[in-house]
Amino acid sequence: MSAASAAAALPRIRLLSTGGTIAGAHVDDAGRGYHAAAFSIDALIAAVPQIAGLARLDIEPVAAIGSQDMNEAVWLKLAARTAAALAEPDIAGVVITHGTDTMEETAFFLNLVVHTTKPIVLVGAMRPATAISADGPMNLFNAVAVAIHPEIRGRGVLVVANDEIHFAREVAKTNTTQVGTFRTAHRGLAGLVNAGRLHLYAPPVRRNTATSDLSLDGLAALPRVDIIYAHAGMGRELIDAAVRAGAQGLVIAGVGDGNLAAPALAAAAEAARAGVAVVRSSRTGGGVVERNIEIDDDDLGFIAADELNPQKARVLLMLGLTRTRDPRALQALFFEY
Ligand code: SIN
Repeated sequence: MSAASAAAALPRIRLLSTGGTIAGAHVDDAGRGYHAAAFSIDALIAAVPQIAGLARLDIEPVAAIGSQDMNEAVWLKLAARTAAALAEPDIAGVVITHGTDTMEETAFFLNLVVHTTKPIVLVGAMRPATAISADGPMNLFNAVAVAIHPEIRGRGVLVVANDEIHFAREVAKTNTTQVGTFRTAHRGLAGLVNAGRLHLYAPPVRRNTATSDLSLDGLAALPRVDIIYAHAGMGRELIDAAVRAGAQGLVIAGVGDGNLAAPALAAAAEAARAGVAVVRSSRTGGGVVERNIEIDDDDLGFIAADELNPQKARVLLMLGLTRTRDPRALQALFFEY
């Protein structure tokens, strides 16, 4: 087979770029600060010529932002572009380059709203492209290797970094700077990927992608949901302010088991009585928030976040609120997704 026909036989992957440190460059020679999204995606791919042996990449820029600026408008566009790419019969999968700061939220959002069994893989880097020992090139190579793997279909949206494959629902960024920042607290890794060789573990159990019935059909915007961080000595002011600002949902990053001080609890209960959906999550970074343990959720009309951290709970609540404001129906979503 000629080199040209061998290349033509490779799977086609659509690479959607959004920015982040993987496309970042230092602002000075000492390598201190850097700008996210300063590099073009073509320059990134040129730095990893080995990818040409795995797949044919089509590149489509969707945004060029640090992921601290990721928002619902970009999510809607990204979901639409991902779905459109995957609807093309000869596109085998989508790889999305993204900043690590909010990658878990984007991954979970897509996991809920893009209905497909084809692979969707998010990839980023902790070190900018100009850093000593940048992690982006290997992460990108591994992400493409994951996206073309024949057994990866039907596993929902995945995050690839530092030789690990994480499920969108489980993964969280846990360290400000280290390359091993992504951790999966509860149900285990999706797998490992060593220089393109995959070791896959059990598939996800909760509804995702093809089995999700959450949808963006007809939506131009998402309801406002705010996260309120609990702490010792917490008052009610931030909850009241969020409600006044028009929040339709609140996620409490509660202390311990999703708890909050008495004045804040009273404010949250008032908000729930006024029709605002109140979800109790936890600021601890692990564990399950269950119903009716320390707080009477049945009586107060609250929703327990189950295993979702506050930022993931916010994503699910925004989507849930497009269907219902009933706390019991919303609670059911938190046990299903
Ligand atoms: C960002 O999230 O865009 C900046 C940090 C990173 O990508 O690691």
